Amino acid sequence: MRHLLDIDDLTFEELNRVLVLAEKSNPPRILNDKGVALLFEKPSSRTRSSAEIAVVQLGGHPMYITAREVGFDVRETAEDLARTLAGYHSVIGARVFSHGVLQRMAEASTVPVVNLLSDLAHPLQALADALTLKSELGQSGLEGRTLAYVGDSNNVARSLVLAAGAVGMTVRVASPSGYTFDAATVERFSQYGCDFTALEDPAEAVKGAHAVYTDVWASMGQEDQKEERRATFKDYTVDEKLMTQASPEAIFLHCLPAKRGYEVTDAVLDGPASRVWVQSANRLHATRGFFLWLLEHNGFTS
Ligand code: CP
Ligand code: NVA
Repeated sequence: MRHLLDIDDLTFEELNRVLVLAEKSNPPRILNDKGVALLFEKPSSRTRSSAEIAVVQLGGHPMYITAREVGFDVRETAEDLARTLAGYHSVIGARVFSHGVLQRMAEASTVPVVNLLSDLAHPLQALADALTLKSELGQSGLEGRTLAYVGDSNNVARSLVLAAGAVGMTVRVASPSGYTFDAATVERFSQYGCDFTALEDPAEAVKGAHAVYTDVWASMGQEDQKEERRATFKDYTVDEKLMTQASPEAIFLHCLPAKRGYEVTDAVLDGPASRVWVQSANRLHATRGFFLWLLEHNGFTS
């Protein structure tokens, strides 16, 4: 059985196949009225809506469940919750604070477990990012194209580096000291075959890049560090001046939600280089393509 806890649960070939399936506008109703549980420990605008609609388009029944209702490790263990939900649903998606909870659910579950964002990774976001990079830049292939990520080396950045590697891009990440990827993550990038460089200077990372990406400085669960992070990241705002360092045709991406005026200015987010609304809409196509691939790989037939 296949789970998706991070992008490197897929081979390069599988990830690229998901991107092809994402373009299927008239997908088979492969779920055939079966349930998909969507558990959320944190808020969501894009992930919940895109996953629910993707399940409906595949002929299934999405069920949104909050942690407040089922109480991960409060009302019962995360393992018992996964075993229970697996009795009703064909897939369990979960957005959790701790990645370890997802790993425990995946070990206990008899159906695939899909990460809808954890403190460590956001693979469905990265599939939409790869789809957007491919459609916006990849007409003649993404090999040799450079993606610059500026900001916190967080969950979104980690999955993004892996996905960009899988579509053949070179990735440079600029983060302040203390907010970089740990050695195990860098090793994992290298094992997966990513062309990855860590830098401190945003201008150096962005120089000549074909895509510039950023995310919030304080992720969900880090609200108490907001002020400290605003001070540390003050030179990491993606503004028009930084964008002039990139290739003249460079696009700007952000997973959203954005804290306007902090990690990105209004002028960039709303400017001509921005592709954030296409990227956001691609969450639906990428998730539907991924579910289709996952179900086919777990014996479902249409
Ligand atoms: N990008 C993303 O995952 O957005 P939500 O938190 O709104 O789902
Ligand atoms: N890094 C952000 C992404 C939100 C989609 C967070 O974890 O809050």
